[in-house]
Parts: sequence; structure tokens; C-alpha cells
Amino acid sequence: MSDIAAMQAGLVEEIAAAENLEAIEALRVAALGKAGSVTALLKSLGGMTPDERQAQGPLIHGLREEVTAAIAARKAALESAALDAKLAGETLDMTLPADAAPKGSVHPVSQVMDELAEIFADMGFAVATGPEIEDDWHNFTALNIPETHPARAMHDTFYFPEVGEGAAQRMLLRTHTSPVQIRTMMEKAPPIRIIAPGRVYRSDSDATHTPMFHQVEGLVIDRGIHMGHLKYTLETFLKAYFETDDIVLRLRPSYFPFTEPSAEVDVGYAQEKGRRIVGGNGDDEGHAWMELLGSGMVNRRVIANCGLDPDEWQGFAFGVGVDRLAMLKYGMDDLRAFFDGDLRWLAHYGFGALNVPTLSGGISA
Ligand code: PHE
Repeated sequence: MSDIAAMQAGLVEEIAAAENLEAIEALRVAALGKAGSVTALLKSLGGMTPDERQAQGPLIHGLREEVTAAIAARKAALESAALDAKLAGETLDMTLPADAAPKGSVHPVSQVMDELAEIFADMGFAVATGPEIEDDWHNFTALNIPETHPARAMHDTFYFPEVGEGAAQRMLLRTHTSPVQIRTMMEKAPPIRIIAPGRVYRSDSDATHTPMFHQVEGLVIDRGIHMGHLKYTLETFLKAYFETDDIVLRLRPSYFPFTEPSAEVDVGYAQEKGRRIVGGNGDDEGHAWMELLGSGMVNRRVIANCGLDPDEWQGFAFGVGVDRLAMLKYGMDDLRAFFDGDLRWLAHYGFGALNVPTLSGGISA
């Protein structure tokens, strides 16, 4: 065997035995690098006689090709082995049970608002919204609430600092959803049928009052509307909401500046195991009346304030606490817990995201 053939066999053997990419690289530099052994042989061709070159040339070039090919082959083999090892290490065991993902829930207030939207949509009501930061005119003045009304007092309402001139510029956190009545009548021509669910604010705080709570307002404006329409609408709504036909209402004369006549609406209920179960006649044995909501025929002055002719357009309005409705139906007894953000409370009283209320599928969960 010639020296070159022996060198080639030695190099090829070393390359094939290289255990990693660093070893291969070291061998490549030692053979083919600037000062490498094969490079030195290639350089020596320049100093040979033509005869020597003719004999040695093919051998030396062959050597370089073989060594280059052996390095490439070993490198590819090492790389694919490394990839195989990596893939093997990253294998997912699809048979392992997955960790339970933390699951959120729908707050009862949101759920009840969805239930109300569904019930009233069936009666032809659209959902309307308005700003929580209101001006004095929409929240009070347009609703015929006199300057001296206690609801306007500084200690009952959250006011923003006065800006600009005049009372209309005075901003406040709306104390009820009734300003949405005004906004709707100003924006849309009658007939109007809306409900307006949303947050309202009063400077009040104990077990049954929180500074922020939720109401839903109802408003119908059309020709020839009377209290019978109001009572029918409330009865239909409460039957659907409490899922019982045994709903008995008692309308008590009351006063709101924005309705005339006004009625406080009571619903009959029975006390069962410390819980109020809505249904039945409040005058019957084992039953009582509970005040549920405020309502009335929209005051002529309010209709006129919105630029409509009260001789042509009449309507009714009502307002009810959403949190209260939720407590009655789902049995919570402390309003403050609604807004504490305690995950244990939410896990217990919350609803699944797919639990969408529908009249056909069932209003409650
Ligand atoms: N806005 C009244 C309240 O907050 C409720 C109400 C609305 C009463 C509409 C009558 C008509 O107490």
C-alpha cells in the first residue's frame, strides 16, 4: 500500500470513529485546514516534476475527495442521530391524563342579565345602553326630579367636580338606569320597546346595599298604552324569570317624579327553609308580599322633555334591581359577596360559559 493510500485509510477510519461534531471538526481542520496534512500534500504538488505530479496528482486529489466525503457522511450521521435523540426525548405521552385547566365562570349578574334580555327579546324589546358617567340633566332634570329631591343630595349621589357653566355640565355616576329612557326617547322615534340593564351607583353600603349595583330599566312608548300593558308585561316577565305560572302581583300606589301614576309592584312568596320562594298569593296562608320593583306610566312632562307630544305618545316604565333578582332566584343572601371577587363564591354561584339562557332550552341553568 502506498503512503497516500495508508494515510487515506487511517483518516477515513478516524473520521468514522468520531463521536461528535466537535471531533469531526477537529479532524477536518487537521486534514483539510490551512495547515492540514492533506492540504500540505496538495501544496507539495507544486514542487514536483511533471512525472511525479502525474503519478501523485490523482492519488492526492483522490485522498482529498475521500476525506471530504467521509467527513460529510459522518457529520450527517451524527446530526441525524442527535435529532433522533432529541425527538425521542421530547416524545409526548398522549395517554397521560391532562391537568385540569382552571375554568372561569359567568357571574350570576351577567347570567341574569342574559336571562332578562332573552325573556324581553321574546316580547319584542331591544337592549339599550347608556353611559355610567351621566350629566345632571339626563339623570335628574329630564326625569322631572325637582332640584330639592333628596336623591340629588351630595351624600346620596357621587358627583364629579363641576366643570364649565351650568348644572347640565355637572357629571355624576348615574343613580339609576332611567336616564337611558331619556336617551332612547331623544334618539329614536316611537314606538319604543327597550330594556336597559347596567351598573348604577349610590352612596350606600350595608348587607343589602352596595355603592355600585345593577338595575334593569324597561320602557315602552307607543299610542294607547295603559297600565294593563304594564301589568301584563311584568307578569309575563316574572313568570318566565322565576319559571312558574303561579305569579301574583300586587300594585301599590306610589310616587316617582318620572311616572304618573306610579306603582310599587309586590310579588307573593313563601318562606321555605329560610329562603324566599317566589310564587303564590301574598295574602294566602304561609305567604307574604315582597316589594320587587318600581313602575308607572311615563310622566307627560318626561315625554315632553324628550320632544314628544304626550297627547299622542304614552308609555310605561319600570326599574328593578338585577342583583336582587339574582339573589331571589339563586338563593344568595349577602349582596356584598357579589362584588368581593372571591373565587370560591364564583365557583359556587357562577355559571358555565356554555350555559346560555334561551326560552326554548330553559331560562335558568
Ligand atoms: N328609577 C327608579 C329607581 O331607581 C325605578 C323606576 C324606574 C321606577 C322606572 C319607575 C319607573 O328607584
